[in-house]
Amino acid sequence: MKLMMEDNRTEIVESVKRKFFRKFLKEISLDELNFLLQLPVCIKDILLERFQQSEDKEIVEEYFRKHSFLSKVLMKNPATFKMLELIYTGENIRGLIDRYSFNTPSAQALRNRLLSVTSIARRIIKAKANKKIEMKVFNLGSGPGRDTIEILEGNSYLTDFVSMDCIDIDSEALEKGKELMKKKNLIGITFTQGDIVRLKRRDEIDLGLIIGVLCGLEHKTCVAVLKRIKRSFKKGGIIIASNVLKSMPGEDPFMSYLLKDIIGWKLVYKGIEEIRQIFLEAGYEWEGILYDEPTRFHGLGIGKVPFT
Ligand SMILES: C[S@@+](CC[C@H](N)C(=O)[O-])C[C@H]1O[C@@H](n2cnc3c(N)ncnc32)[C@H](O)[C@@H]1O
Repeated sequence: MKLMMEDNRTEIVESVKRKFFRKFLKEISLDELNFLLQLPVCIKDILLERFQQSEDKEIVEEYFRKHSFLSKVLMKNPATFKMLELIYTGENIRGLIDRYSFNTPSAQALRNRLLSVTSIARRIIKAKANKKIEMKVFNLGSGPGRDTIEILEGNSYLTDFVSMDCIDIDSEALEKGKELMKKKNLIGITFTQGDIVRLKRRDEIDLGLIIGVLCGLEHKTCVAVLKRIKRSFKKGGIIIASNVLKSMPGEDPFMSYLLKDIIGWKLVYKGIEEIRQIFLEAGYEWEGILYDEPTRFHGLGIGKVPFT
């Protein structure tokens, strides 16, 4: 009897591995295997096959909505800061789907992106501050501005030289940012509600961050957004704009599939050359690209506003 059960288990595992490879063209990882084996059989089967009937998709969506806080938040509005806060902090991560999602390479890449953005921007700001040059930094589509806050943490002397403004359309994100700043005993960051494509300011910004905003936008819209915000930069100003890269669905196809087909979040994965083109078409000089390390699922394109 025991032997038969073990045989059956081996057969199930082998079948999951085979089907996963057939669908995602990649060997299944141990995390993916464990996750799929713990799901109810009908959900696992639907995820590994093509949707056979229209209700199949609805069944899985409903299961994810009911059993995953992360999915529920994303299904409601994928572009808010809320999902990122969950992924950055791990708060409210519980249950099979959320624990799996939190530990995927895609989620790790977001935490890596936060570290990379913070360290690149801090380096640029410190270089100016060390020469006693004042500068204005704008975080456009900042959410709660966690990256901006982390730049200042342990470096509050920087506020003698740099003024930092987080701009977001979502007042809840800004309130969260103010709370975070208070909790960390920091001063010097202002939080302004506004639409980044309708900024009235002119020739003001020395360094701009636009992180996690272009990822869901098509090429043409990215160009339009970058072109619009360029008016607010000083000549020679630097913009760092992140974009999700094609390496994410390449290396983490299962999570990319869950995001697109189950959660309904249509990310527009781009190549490095396309990001360079976006900057050039928007009228910036291309200064190159850096990455979230070591995952490299996000490209941090760097552009400079030309002097002429
Ligand atoms: C995915 S979140 C990224 C938040 C933050 N930059 C980060 O990386 O953690 C995108 C943010 O952009 C904001 N946003 C989207 N469109 C905007 C617009 N037109 N003007 C201002 N903020 C916008 C959203 O409200 C949201 O907080």
